[in-house]
Amino acid sequence: MKNIKAIIFDAYGTLFDVNSAAEKCKDKIGDKWEGFANYWRTTQLEYTWLRSLMKRHKDFWQVTEDSLDKSMKTYQIDSSMRKELLDLYKILSTFEEVPEVLKSLKEKNYKLAILSNGTPNLLNELVKSNNLKNIFDDIFSIEEVGIYKPDSKVYDLPINQYQIQKNEVVFLSANTWDVSGGGNYGYNSIWVNRNNNNSFDNLDYEPIHQIEDLSKLLDII
Ligand code: LAC
Repeated sequence: MKNIKAIIFDAYGTLFDVNSAAEKCKDKIGDKWEGFANYWRTTQLEYTWLRSLMKRHKDFWQVTEDSLDKSMKTYQIDSSMRKELLDLYKILSTFEEVPEVLKSLKEKNYKLAILSNGTPNLLNELVKSNNLKNIFDDIFSIEEVGIYKPDSKVYDLPINQYQIQKNEVVFLSANTWDVSGGGNYGYNSIWVNRNNNNSFDNLDYEPIHQIEDLSKLLDII
């Protein structure tokens, strides 16, 4: 990795813990909270891919609500939990190491940005509620192009904004399919393997590095 000009982060699952909303309700949901949280996340992502293929775009908040409704039915979660889960989804916590790592990177000479399926409003609120407001040069939302990752129009956004080459970007995601999406596009894509999973996807891309959390990024760049 030479001449890196921008470090771009996926948001959900990479900076922000998508399971933290259901986890905060685990006393009410019971032992099934984790299965439910994973199902909600998987359904949400499937809806983004399916909507892109069907050319029937709905924004990420609507997709999050739709997938929650299906997941609550499947896991027989009481409908009184709906509002609480959605409110918590708007203020997801970061993973533990994230704020410190971002502050260290901020002192170096890179563009720092988020590139996410989230709406501008959702992403701005997440950044605000986690006190990360002054960290990022840009928050790129797929709403600018109206189609979800891994469409190449999404990965074009930082390239167009910064007028840089694809291989001048380091892209980090904990979502293997997004690592592949960015990597196939031409980014230096790094897999943040938070769950110590030993199998990567077979999607024509091997991540340039694999790290267990973002703190290891400081050793690489
Ligand atoms: C995002 C999803 C992929 O933030 O996690 O774009």
